[in-house]
Amino acid sequence: MAAINFSDRAIRSRGYSADSPLGRAALAALRAPSLLNTQPWRWRVHDGSAELWADRSRQLTSIDPDGRLLILSCGIALHHAMVALTIIGHRPQVDVRPDATTPDLLAVVRAGAEQRPSFADQRAFQAMLARRTDRRPAPRDVCIPAYRLQQLRDAAERHGAHLHLLPHEQVPVLIVAATHAAAIETADPGVRGDLARWTHRPTGGGDGVTASSVVPQIPRRVPQREFLPNDDAGLDAGEGNDQTANYAILFSDGDEPADWLAAGQALSALLIAATEHRISVNPISNVVEVEPTRATLAGLLSQLGHPMIALRLSVAAATPPPPEPRRSPEEMIES
Ligand SMILES: Cc1cc2nc3c(=O)[nH]c(=O)nc-3n(C[C@H](O)[C@H](O)[C@H](O)COP(=O)(O)O)c2cc1C
Repeated sequence: MAAINFSDRAIRSRGYSADSPLGRAALAALRAPSLLNTQPWRWRVHDGSAELWADRSRQLTSIDPDGRLLILSCGIALHHAMVALTIIGHRPQVDVRPDATTPDLLAVVRAGAEQRPSFADQRAFQAMLARRTDRRPAPRDVCIPAYRLQQLRDAAERHGAHLHLLPHEQVPVLIVAATHAAAIETADPGVRGDLARWTHRPTGGGDGVTASSVVPQIPRRVPQREFLPNDDAGLDAGEGNDQTANYAILFSDGDEPADWLAAGQALSALLIAATEHRISVNPISNVVEVEPTRATLAGLLSQLGHPMIALRLSVAAATPPPPEPRRSPEEMIES
C-alpha cells in the first residue's frame, strides 16, 4: 500500500516546516485528487497555522471559468489535510474562508488538542493514500450493496453536502446529458486547448492526466470524457461493461464558493469511505462544466439543490490502476 514517509530526512531538509504536524498534514494532502490533476492549491505553513490558498494560475479557464471545480478540488485537499492531522495526533481546527478581502485564502488550519487516533482514523488515512481514479468499466456481476451506498451518502451529509443516487429511470437522462456535454466541449477550441495542455505535461512535472490512467474509448453506459485518442490510451479497459455501476450526483444547498469548498470536503470523505469498502469512484464532471447540462442535473434533483459533480460508483477491480503523479512539496508548501 502507498505510504508517505513522514520522517524522510530529504523532506525535512527542504526548508519548510515538514516536520511540524501542519507541514506533515499539508504533505499528505498532496495526494488529493483534482480536476485533470491540476493540483490548484498552495499551502503556507507558518506561525502555528497552515493556510490553504487557491492557485488561480492552474485554473482551467475554458473548462472551469467560474473556478467551481478548482475550489472543489481545494476542498478535497483541505479534508485530506484534516484526516492526516488527525492521524498525526491532533484535533484539526479549521477556519473556512476567514477573510473575505482575500477570497483565494480558502481556509486556515491549526493543530488543536492532542488526541490519540482511533483505528477508524487509521483506516481512513490508509484509504486516503491508496485511493485512485479508476476509469475502467465496472466489473461484471458484482453490485455495490445498498447499505454501502447509504454509507457514502452519510459521508457526504456529514460535510454538509448530499448524494443523490440515480434510480434506473434517471440514468438515460444522465447518458443524454453526458453526450450533450461532450458535444458542447468538443466544439469549443478553448476546452480542447485545456484538455491538450493537461494531458501532455512536461515529463517530470508531477501533474496532469497521464496516458497510463486513460482507457480507450469503448461503448460505455454513460459516456466518459475523451482524454486522449485511442492509440495513446495506456490502460487496458478490461472485461467490465458498466452494467453493475451506480451513478450519483453530489449536490449542495447553495452555489457559492463556500458551498464548492464544502462539497470538496464531502467528496473527499466519500472517496475515502468508498476506498475503505473497495468501491471505486470515477468523477464525471463535464456534465457540470457546461450550463445546459448542469441545469439538466438540477432537474434530476427536482431543483432541490445545486449539482457539484456526477459520479460513477462500482465495485473496485482486483488490481488498482497505476498512480498518477503529484507535484513536489517544494512547489506546493511554503513556510
Ligand atoms: C473536480 C474533479 C473533476 C474530475 N473530473 C473527472 C472527469 O470528468 N473524468 C475522469 O475520468 N476523471 C475526473 N476526475 C479525476 C481526476 O482526473 C483525477 O483525480 C486526477 O487525474 C488524479 O488522479 P488520481 O485520482 O488517480 O489520484 C476529476 C477529479 C476531480 C477532483
